[in-house]
Amino acid sequence: MMDARKMREKAFHDQEYADEVRWQAVDKYYSIIEGRARFWEDFLRARCAGKRVLEYGCGQGKYTPRLAEFGGNVTGIDLSETAMANARASARAAGVEVEFKAMDAEALDFPDQTFDVICGNAILHHLDLDRSFSEVARTLKPDGVAIFMEPLGHNPLINLKRRMTPTLRTPDEHPLKMSDFRLARKHFGSVDIHAYHLLSLTAVPFRRAAIFARLVAILDRLDAALFRWLPFTARYAWYAVAVLSDPRPVAAAAVEKDGAGD
Ligand SMILES: C[S@@+](CC[C@H](N)C(=O)[O-])C[C@H]1O[C@@H](n2cnc3c(N)ncnc32)[C@H](O)[C@@H]1O
Repeated sequence: MMDARKMREKAFHDQEYADEVRWQAVDKYYSIIEGRARFWEDFLRARCAGKRVLEYGCGQGKYTPRLAEFGGNVTGIDLSETAMANARASARAAGVEVEFKAMDAEALDFPDQTFDVICGNAILHHLDLDRSFSEVARTLKPDGVAIFMEPLGHNPLINLKRRMTPTLRTPDEHPLKMSDFRLARKHFGSVDIHAYHLLSLTAVPFRRAAIFARLVAILDRLDAALFRWLPFTARYAWYAVAVLSDPRPVAAAAVEKDGAGD
């Protein structure tokens, strides 16, 4: 039996996937994501060929076919059956072979150590993090890697904008905090965080100008320099890309802990 939070998430997203106009109010912000998307694509292009790949919380499979094009043996999962039906239809229409399964990301129906690569966009912040990190660590192979792009929840102006557009969001979603990445360290030996989009947000009003792409590229470089020189500023970015490796499944961590007392 699905709990109330998951029923709310499922109902919201089933509705969202039947009603594409919802995001138009904030679409303009996605004009600046090129640098982050390139990092994500390059990372996955280098790691998917011939590998078992899971897109975790894949929605309608916006990214999933790319993973198959990179040579992965790809499965996409999501709680929304509407999303899975739409994803199957568009993969079929595109002639791409990807398996889509309706499934709870917090209780994956896959054996331990199934995947070489697990990736997800804007999914962790809809989940119970301890459970989902635990499931990702359990189903990743020991030398596997996971990559997630997630919104951050520290910037007061971005949070104000979120409060002004409440119908775009589920009541339970929670843009990630730095403390959430500390929790990830319980489940992964290596947690690498790459922040994106702080100064580059100022380019949004110029998105129709001829110099826009160049302006975003310059601001992306300034953002990277800012986060390097003053690391505390990274928390105020809009998004983070988290690269998780050296998985520590809970059972293994418990055995290690028991052994430590011998
Ligand atoms: C913001 S959408 C992102 C979808 C997709 N990754 C994308 O980039 O388009 C969040 C997704 O999380 C899914 N979701 C929420 N709770 C879930 C759960 N417990 N298990 C699996 N998927 C879940 C929703 O159905 C929705 O598709």
